[in-house]
Amino acid sequence: MVEKSACLQEELLKFLLTRRSIRRFKAEPVPIELVKKVLDIARYAPSAGNRQPWIYIVVTDPEIKKKLASIHRWAYPLEDAPLGIVIACDKNISPDSYHVDCANATMYIMLALHALGLGSVWLQTLRNVEEIQRVLNLPSNFVPIAMLAVGYPAESPAPRPRKELKEITYLNTYGNPLL
Ligand SMILES: Cc1cc2nc3c(=O)[nH]c(=O)nc-3n(C[C@H](O)[C@H](O)[C@H](O)COP(=O)(O)O)c2cc1C
Repeated sequence: MVEKSACLQEELLKFLLTRRSIRRFKAEPVPIELVKKVLDIARYAPSAGNRQPWIYIVVTDPEIKKKLASIHRWAYPLEDAPLGIVIACDKNISPDSYHVDCANATMYIMLALHALGLGSVWLQTLRNVEEIQRVLNLPSNFVPIAMLAVGYPAESPAPRPRKELKEITYLNTYGNPLL
């Protein structure tokens, strides 16, 4: 195991706290090598039985981006983002766990992007699965679990409010306060 100094530990925790959903992006293109680097890292996300049921579709084509961006009213950040990444999972490979496996991979991607100074926002896909499958030519066993709008941030949003720790934590059994 790699030992981490107390200072590095704090830096790593701060890194997690400084991620934000980014919805406005600079026009600057994202080098494909960086995207590949990020997707390479995401291979190391945990998955049930290490089945790795995910695939990633990088979307740079403006027409396809536009179609995905108009799939529902909250998907608009994709239209002006330099690229999108759709994370899909093969439900035949991991019928019980494909949703959570894919969510893990998505978070790995978001955090790796953040580490490289790139921003992203997770866009809802689960109410429009068939439409997204049609746009991307995805076979029906591949369920798009998330799509990300990706680019260099053109905004620095304040942190969104979070529930208090004591509202959401228990010791041993539900209802018994931890704090
Ligand atoms: C499953 C899921 C679906 C989301 N869908 C959308 C979406 O469709 N459009 C959007 O702008 N943000 C979407 N978000 C981003 C959330 O709004 C955001 O993560 C939340 O407000 C907390 O803000 P933060 O990510 O900056 O901490 C989604 C996030 C998740 C995890």
